[in-house]
Amino acid sequence: MTERNIKELVTQMTLEEKASLCSGRDFWNTKAVERLGIPSVMLSDGPHGLRKQESEGDHLGLNESIPAVCFPAGCAIASSWDREVAKLLGQTLANECQAENVSTILGPAMNIKRSPLCGRNFEYLSEDPLLSSDMASAYVQAVQSKNVATSPKHFMANNQEFHRMTSDSIMDDRTMREIYLASFEKMVKEAKPWTMMGAYNKLNGTYLCENKLILTDILRDEWGFEGYVMTDWGAMNDRVDGLIAGCELEMPAMSDRTDKEIVAAVESGKLDQSILDQAVERFLTVIFNYVDNRDESAVFDREADHKVAQHLAEESSILLKNQDAILPLKKEQKVAFIGQYAQEPRYQGGGSSHINSFKVDSALEAAKDLSVSYARGYDDRLDVAVENLEEQALELAQQSDVAVLFIGLPDRYESEGYDRKHMQLPANQVELLEKISQVQENLVVVLHNGSAIEMPWIDKVKGLLEVYLGGQAVGQATVNLLYGEVNPSGRLAETFPLRLQDTPTYLDYGGENDKSYYREGVFVGYRYYSSKEMPVLFPFGHGLSYTQFSYGQLELSQKELTDADTLAVTVRVTNTGICYGKEVVQVYVAAPNSKIIRPSLELRAFDKIGLEPGESKTVTVELDKRAFAYWDMDRQNWTVEEGDYTIIIGRSAEEKILEASVHVAPAQPTRKVFHLNSTIGEILADKHAGPIFEQMMGSALGGNAEAQQVADSQSDAVSAEMMQAMMEGMPIRQLLSFVPGIEKSMLEGLVAVLNQ
Ligand code: BGC
Repeated sequence: MTERNIKELVTQMTLEEKASLCSGRDFWNTKAVERLGIPSVMLSDGPHGLRKQESEGDHLGLNESIPAVCFPAGCAIASSWDREVAKLLGQTLANECQAENVSTILGPAMNIKRSPLCGRNFEYLSEDPLLSSDMASAYVQAVQSKNVATSPKHFMANNQEFHRMTSDSIMDDRTMREIYLASFEKMVKEAKPWTMMGAYNKLNGTYLCENKLILTDILRDEWGFEGYVMTDWGAMNDRVDGLIAGCELEMPAMSDRTDKEIVAAVESGKLDQSILDQAVERFLTVIFNYVDNRDESAVFDREADHKVAQHLAEESSILLKNQDAILPLKKEQKVAFIGQYAQEPRYQGGGSSHINSFKVDSALEAAKDLSVSYARGYDDRLDVAVENLEEQALELAQQSDVAVLFIGLPDRYESEGYDRKHMQLPANQVELLEKISQVQENLVVVLHNGSAIEMPWIDKVKGLLEVYLGGQAVGQATVNLLYGEVNPSGRLAETFPLRLQDTPTYLDYGGENDKSYYREGVFVGYRYYSSKEMPVLFPFGHGLSYTQFSYGQLELSQKELTDADTLAVTVRVTNTGICYGKEVVQVYVAAPNSKIIRPSLELRAFDKIGLEPGESKTVTVELDKRAFAYWDMDRQNWTVEEGDYTIIIGRSAEEKILEASVHVAPAQPTRKVFHLNSTIGEILADKHAGPIFEQMMGSALGGNAEAQQVADSQSDAVSAEMMQAMMEGMPIRQLLSFVPGIEKSMLEGLVAVLNQ
């Protein structure tokens, strides 16, 4: 941290100098104030490699950037479910930044994968806010431990690429808190990012970069953020409103136009000078934190970082299917590598995260000393088959012991800037797969894609290794995984549904007239599928290993607790197989008897451990109030309902292994506020108010002539159940119409007593 007196520095600045720091100098650099020794610093994309553009800048990945290392994209990194993986990525990137004099790496990208169609899902981490926030937190802490800033993005609700610069994400407060803000919240509180990047889109009618509720009330005042907020590139709508709302830096350069607007606003009194001073202070603190701690000795060792990229790809890939233990392959087997991606892997996505890789490993090259032959099989620029490519592939598959088919989504199928229209692979790749499966039953697929796809062909393959967009060393990593040099240990950070029609946003993803209604609410990803008990292709959290793990008893530190306590959840895991492997312990919580409409289970903690064959380890995770709470829209706060909760250890969101029950009550019981429109049912169900109400009104209601009539009547038009339901749903003001002799003032008195 810088030791300079930043406040004092700000007092020396003119109004124009202060305003000048509120926008960029050019595409990638901030402005300097030379007279005061304030330097210009460089910002660069991110998130999974350094995209430092030394000459012409752009935010689409059009112009060349320096040769660098492309690490696995967010979709893969999150699939490791391993904070150490995110940490290693962060440390490596920070060192590269120091060596290249980049003050800030723009990332991690951590929007929720609301629909598998989002063009940028490959960069995003998960459909689950806890997994997203935890992985991002490890990354941010690691980068900043080397005095380089991060800029977690795109804050927030930037869940589609269609009209991303104008679209309005419309959602209720609970959805916002439990899902879309939660994806950032834990990371902000834990890792304290030095900057945040405001999203292009609007939230409930207000552009995010001028959204005071989000940028100031929640981010700063509630979560304690102390850095500065920058816009996404070109995301500022109204500069002065943005500054007032809490957006300090506008990127990229605006040829001083908006700086002048700031000066004019201060002069006219529209903008309080203290807001500008504070913004400059925040901005300069981050700049000097970097500048004063610059590590001039750092070296960008590309070969060493390439090895890191390989390790990260190995830790992130997921073994989705392994029928008849087809994998790992044996060295003595004659293996056919089929598919263009075996030779030219698709290892990264398009747009602002696009890295100029200094080299790329292909699986084919990595397998050169093994008994592996190759056929290209298809051309990924086309969706139709090329006859001779197919024929060669079939012939090779037939002559081999095993065929490994490398397929996936071509660049044109998914990218920043647009959303997918469907979840299918190109028809020529599927056709090839089906034809190979007719001549070779030992068929394994290696998948290169940035987001979930449909697999109507899944029964035709025995093995399936998901390597996602695994970075430039994915080829070597894939071979190591296929041959068992490394045991796969990734788990899905997103559900693979059976078909697009099953997804919770199928009917309205993308919105209309620039409005996207988040009608599915908190039911995103597995929260939706599991609550509806819908079959999926591969559930959230799923992933296999070449070894097996067994679980001992599930132990809870308490059977009863309040929401001020912490619950320790302990389980012992044993590797019962024959090789070293890593297991992800997934802890979900369910609130089976809740009166609130809640997902049937939610991930609340996880840990990853490595075990030698026969080895056991005890894993303990802690659950606090938030593991049981929901966002109460009436109270505008996190609330824990008193009741029994189920703690679940799962191999995935679908496969439950162990369960235990715990009773949780609020430490400070929350008293409901009653009014004349509160229903009789609501009041009777309340622990405090119910008995008082019965005591005060019991005789009046018992004497209700209509109720008596029903009890006496033989009519089947009105049943006792119906009367009871009507009473329960009746607001107390209606007693005026039904109970003779009751006055409004009496009911007002009753309400006052209930609220005492
Ligand atoms: C992207 C950001 C990126 C920025 C700079 C924008 O279009 O949304 O993620 O950091 O460009 O390249």
